[in-house]
Amino acid sequence: MPEEALNIIDQRTKSSYEFPFFKGAIRAANLRQIKTGPEDFGVVSYDPAFLNTAACQSSITYIDGDKGILRYRGYPIEQLAEKCTFLEVAYLILNGELPTEVQLDNWVSDIKYHTMLHEKTKNFLTGFNHDAHPMGMFISTLAALSTLYPEARKVRDPEVRKLQIRRLIGKVPTIAAYTYRHSLGYPYVYPDNELSYTENFMNMLWRMVEPKYRPNPVVSRALDILFILHADHEQNCSANVMRAVGSAEADPYVATAAAAAALSGSLHGGANEEVLKMLDAIGSKDRVPAYIEKVKAGGVKLMGFGHRIYKNYDPRARIIKWAADQVFVATCRNPKLEIALELERVALEDEYFIKRKLYPNVDFYSGIIYQALGFKPDVFTVLFAIPRTVGWLAQWQEMLEDPEQKIARPRQIYTGYEARDFVPIGKRTAHPALAIR
Ligand code: ACO
Repeated sequence: MPEEALNIIDQRTKSSYEFPFFKGAIRAANLRQIKTGPEDFGVVSYDPAFLNTAACQSSITYIDGDKGILRYRGYPIEQLAEKCTFLEVAYLILNGELPTEVQLDNWVSDIKYHTMLHEKTKNFLTGFNHDAHPMGMFISTLAALSTLYPEARKVRDPEVRKLQIRRLIGKVPTIAAYTYRHSLGYPYVYPDNELSYTENFMNMLWRMVEPKYRPNPVVSRALDILFILHADHEQNCSANVMRAVGSAEADPYVATAAAAAALSGSLHGGANEEVLKMLDAIGSKDRVPAYIEKVKAGGVKLMGFGHRIYKNYDPRARIIKWAADQVFVATCRNPKLEIALELERVALEDEYFIKRKLYPNVDFYSGIIYQALGFKPDVFTVLFAIPRTVGWLAQWQEMLEDPEQKIARPRQIYTGYEARDFVPIGKRTAHPALAIR
């Protein structure tokens, strides 16, 4: 038996099997060799919610959840957040290496070339109610871009992919800013390519009648850092959606819209909005202990806490806390920070959270900064989606270039009826369980 192998004995047949390890894992398809007879399909692994299934090989992002480590392409997130711009990190995530000065200049100008939206895009947005959720508008507009760039369907063509990647990264801040302006009833502001990526985003969000928008450098740097922290996070729910939809060779606009839809959920990127609602509901520092008791009793979740992978402090939450202090120098201190700090303090000393290894995640403090910058909570997830578009596209590209990948199609364990004969409508009786549907 080779040293690096797993030996399995099937007690049903007393047969033994030897499966080689592949990078520390076993190939689930090997389990199909385990059969009780020629008619048997073979063993499948049952893993609801993918708790223990690696669906791909990836060289983009590394996380050690127990140690609280996050690296993009090998570089620690702390160093990237301190020393890079968001577009520099985007280049790294997509291409595997940090850019040289010339490469960065070309990359930045390529992205800026694509910041404008087709004028018709404004028509879609105008159709939404003034109080439409910005994430709904963002997702729909992304999907609608697919109709403007039909060549994007040629996903196997690297040149076509390259163009769509630049288009999407260039256009997501413009879509996000338009959804924001729409919800406020303000006219849309066109991109200003003399500004940096983040400064231009601020320009499209906040410019009113002044001829030239002058961004606050502290705020633009803080936003840039937030963008870096949110750029990728390996096989999270929305990245998995991007890969699954992309594996069917859907174009990158609809695939990105699908990934953004996953992000909008309250257990994923939508959590930052929920954190603010929770802080509002708590109202003051002295009511924190009562809220923690409610969480422990199972009535509610402590939003912004817990993570499938991190069983330690999320390193992004630590950097966001630091960035919050910088932002509060330029804006007013958000009074909700006191409640959040107290929640964190009480939770981290409490046996319930210690035992379950529940720590603040990226969403716990991000909303507090966003609110201090003047954003309403319903825009928070859109702010998350802008940088995460880079991660989705990197995951999508890696999936398409991986010769082992095929259309994503999990198996199931069927628990329904065996074959049964059709019953004419006059002879059917109502099933009691259907009353709730
Ligand atoms: N508050 C209270 N209890 C929690 C929380 C929480 N936020 N998160 C997990 N738990 C408890 C669970 O009830 C469970 O307890 P039990 O063992 O007594 O049943 C235990 O901790 C394990 O939790 P799971 O739900 O099994 O963990 P899972 O990995 O499936 O979920 C998730 C991870 C969805 C992030 C979860 O922690 C959660 O709902 N957190 C709040 C929402 C949130 O902040 N989401 C953002 C995540 S980061 C991101 O997506 C960008």
